[in-house]
Amino acid sequence: MHPTAHVGVTGLAVMGRNLARNLARHGYTVAVHNRTPARMRALVTDFGHEGTFIAAESPVEMVAALQRPRRLIVMVQAGQATDDVIAEYAPLLDPGDVVVDGGNAHFADTRRREAALRERGIHFLGTGISGGEEGALDGPSIMPGGSPQAYQLLAPVLNDIAAVMPDGARAVAHLGPDGAGHFVKMVHNGIEYADMQLIAEAYHLLRHAAGWSPARIAEVFRRWNAGRLNSYLIEVTAEVLAHYDADSGLPFVDVIADAAEQKGTGRWTVQTALDLGIPVSGIAEAVFARSLSGHTALRATGAALPGPAPTLLGERDAARFTDQVEQALYASKVISYAQGLHQIQAASETYGWNIDLATVAAVWRAGCIIRAAFLDRVRDAYTTDPALPSLLADPGFAGEVGAAQLPWRLAVSHAARDGVPAPAFAAALAYYDSLRSPRLPAALTQAQRDYFGAHTYRRTDRPGTFHTRWDTDRTELKSN
Ligand code: ATR
Repeated sequence: MHPTAHVGVTGLAVMGRNLARNLARHGYTVAVHNRTPARMRALVTDFGHEGTFIAAESPVEMVAALQRPRRLIVMVQAGQATDDVIAEYAPLLDPGDVVVDGGNAHFADTRRREAALRERGIHFLGTGISGGEEGALDGPSIMPGGSPQAYQLLAPVLNDIAAVMPDGARAVAHLGPDGAGHFVKMVHNGIEYADMQLIAEAYHLLRHAAGWSPARIAEVFRRWNAGRLNSYLIEVTAEVLAHYDADSGLPFVDVIADAAEQKGTGRWTVQTALDLGIPVSGIAEAVFARSLSGHTALRATGAALPGPAPTLLGERDAARFTDQVEQALYASKVISYAQGLHQIQAASETYGWNIDLATVAAVWRAGCIIRAAFLDRVRDAYTTDPALPSLLADPGFAGEVGAAQLPWRLAVSHAARDGVPAPAFAAALAYYDSLRSPRLPAALTQAQRDYFGAHTYRRTDRPGTFHTRWDTDRTELKSN
């Protein structure tokens, strides 16, 4: 086969197929392969008119079709499938070729794969791709990690197919070496979980404390979408809430089983945060809220537990409450981003990735699920001060969250009083108050540790590490 393809895509399920079409629509000749050839043939038959595809029946045919240096995008299931496909292709490739993993890989796997392929002289670009089915076709947000040489080989291609941002720039940037791209994509998903949970809590409060119908709450979300909360997820929420089930005539949200599923990147975000020692309590609450929702038997056990019945608000109080919920939602959202970005910052230091948080915020502004007007300001905050220790250290965000704190507290206490669960709102507020507390009860915790386990402690009034012999009240200096 004469090598004419600019790029290859292997793995043609929903994401791979749409990414291949996106590439073809941009004038690239795309060699396509899938383990089950029927998928590859269906793509060529159904969408062949959109551009130039080369049907590869095997990895050997795929490699033979690609111009050098070969650019192969792998879009198969994360985990073992990705390893299997890389193992199949690696012996067929030459030094200087580049393999892109566009799946939702765990960043540790990406680091391992990058190192293994580097040994053979093959470049590896671990690339987060966000935007779902539609994004892959019309322009996703792309988060690549790998060597600068690997990125250079793909940059023009990725630039062409990425989402266009409001300022005309493309939602793609080289984020750092090896696992940096997949790490940023993982945290993106964790933040997405938090965003969705916060929105769900806002809806739940308006439904059960204000007593409003989904259609009326849809109007509230539409209004919010015209303000500082403007985002894809708020827009989607308004549409879902305004939707009625054709069969039953009921609000659509009422006919859906209230058990949310998850694929795993939210869980990875929290697991990784625990390993790094970074508090991402808002994201963790969102992951746990999904998990709790699915525990049907446990929830049935709890159904008989006592609690207050929410007292529905009158019109005037409901309007005030709606404003409190908006403030709580916005402030909690800022906290979730602060936590997620802190996690990226910590990983960047641990792994020597040198990730620029302004760039991260910039590539999240279009194409992906968490795209939001407010990300312009997040980018600006880190452009002004790339070493910002927290998003809450930015005077603009600190001012906004500070101004929201009273209504935020009222919304959280209203939820607690009426027995409406709002775990992510409450966790975000606790994080905020923990940051602003001059003293935390951690002093007591550390004293307990010293009491029962001789774990030592540091003092506020002099340097060194100490242990107290609690039986004799004698303090020993353990080290300076
Ligand atoms: P998406 O999220 O895009 O819908 P996915 O579930 O992440 O898809 O991945 C599915 C793709 O991985 C399919 O192309 C699948 O190939 P088949 O169509 O033959 O099932 C591919 N895939 C899964 N395991 C694979 C393996 N061991 N080797 C090659 N391809 C594999």
